[in-house]
Amino acid sequence: MPEFIPANVPNHVAIIMDGNGRWANARGLPRTMGHRKGVEAVRAAVKTAADLGIRYLTLFAFSSENWSRPEAEVTDLMGLLKAFIRRDLADLHRENVRIRVIGDRANLRGDILPLLIEAEETTSANTGITLVIAFNYGARDELARAMRRLATEVAAGRLRPDDITAERINATIDTAGIPDPDLILRTSGEERLSNFLLWQGAYSELLFIPELWPDFTRETFLAAIEKYASRERRFGGLSQPTLAVGS
Ligand code: IPE
Ligand code: IPE
Ligand code: MG
Repeated sequence: MPEFIPANVPNHVAIIMDGNGRWANARGLPRTMGHRKGVEAVRAAVKTAADLGIRYLTLFAFSSENWSRPEAEVTDLMGLLKAFIRRDLADLHRENVRIRVIGDRANLRGDILPLLIEAEETTSANTGITLVIAFNYGARDELARAMRRLATEVAAGRLRPDDITAERINATIDTAGIPDPDLILRTSGEERLSNFLLWQGAYSELLFIPELWPDFTRETFLAAIEKYASRERRFGGLSQPTLAVGS
């Protein structure tokens, strides 16, 4: 069956990849197996997004609050991210994928930071889809770091308080240069943002779908894009037909 690809594909899709633990639980497997299966879903999602012509795909891989999980699970998640970069970086580079990492880089363990930097540097000149990995990311932490940076500039006399505009904030947060997400999608049925892209998501369409992340396939992704395409975005204005009446 030919795939239906809607006309207005979002420029930037951000995904809260949730439900790995429940996927494993439902099968009597340890949570780590859910995370492993989740990596396969990541590979498929990047490929589907690139095929659809989506220009930016942000994936929430590890939140600044996920450190509160048991040590073994945290270690496992770190290991999976490292393995993903080691194993997939060459392929992603060949596919012209540009990688960006958002989140706090201070105090990361061992060899994870050099790997993240290698992924960004290797792919920095690529012109295909930008894969934004949100790692050790929390929106409140991101905004607090940005505010500290701006306050430092003001204190040093390099910036006036009036210079702190929405544009300046955009240029100071981790996503500098990356357009706002058009669609924020969360799997697993939970309907919350869990500290993801709170500033950037001001006008994002939100979509919560029941599928658990390891079950997220190309078809699931296409169905989500189709739902997005049927939404009307108004950005505080009026819908097109209403606008026509008074004009
Ligand atoms: C998402 O799956 C992966 C991460 C948060 C890193 P979860 O591990 O949150 O799975 P559930 O929500 O417990 O099912
Ligand atoms: C959000 O999922 C974080 C990631 C997907 C990385 P969580 O599973 O951590 O969120 P809560 O705890 O259910 O809100
Ligand atoms: Mg979860």
